[in-house]
Amino acid sequence: MTTIAVFVGSLRKESFNLKLAKAIENFMPEGVNFEYADMNLPLYNQDLDGDFPAKATELKQLVERADGVLFVTPEYNRSFPGVLKNAIDWASRPWGQSSFTGKPAAIVGASMGALGATQAQAALRNVALFLDMKLMGQPEVYFNGTTGFDEQGKLVEGSVDFIRGFAQAFAKHVEANR
Ligand code: FNR
Repeated sequence: MTTIAVFVGSLRKESFNLKLAKAIENFMPEGVNFEYADMNLPLYNQDLDGDFPAKATELKQLVERADGVLFVTPEYNRSFPGVLKNAIDWASRPWGQSSFTGKPAAIVGASMGALGATQAQAALRNVALFLDMKLMGQPEVYFNGTTGFDEQGKLVEGSVDFIRGFAQAFAKHVEANR
């Protein structure tokens, strides 16, 4: 069994990024299990490094037992949302005990336009590399949420091969680097 910790950077019920994560999950090979991180966390406070809140400890445990990490991010004001940064900050601490070190990872993102969270993903890539994750470079996924899903929230036919290709490449990346 292979476990992927999935960080979706939007709390919105109808989130394009949540739909994108679910679409990728559908195409993962047999035996690969997605576990979604609970992003509803207290704000990170360094005073609590010696006494982590239970939800932050659970997040660290999720990442530590996972074989890989998938970040699925919206773009807020040309970067990735604070909700996602907050979760990453918790799981990266205390100093010297980051849960992310060496984990195979990939970043994808959706926005409501054709740019597909390009700048958010670039900013997040910098963070993931600093955290010493084994980041997959290709294929990149810059997804237009407005045209990419139908009324039922299902992936449109024209995007199926692209997203399936990403899922297969990511599964291989995790197997090769876990
Ligand atoms: C946005 N949005 C946005 N889109 C974009 O392409 N570049 C940007 O810089 C921003 N900035 C931005 C800031 C804030 C505060 C919000 C709420 C939204 C629009 C964004 O792409 C859109 O709301 C997506 O639907 C967000 O992703 P989810 O929630 O659908 O996953």
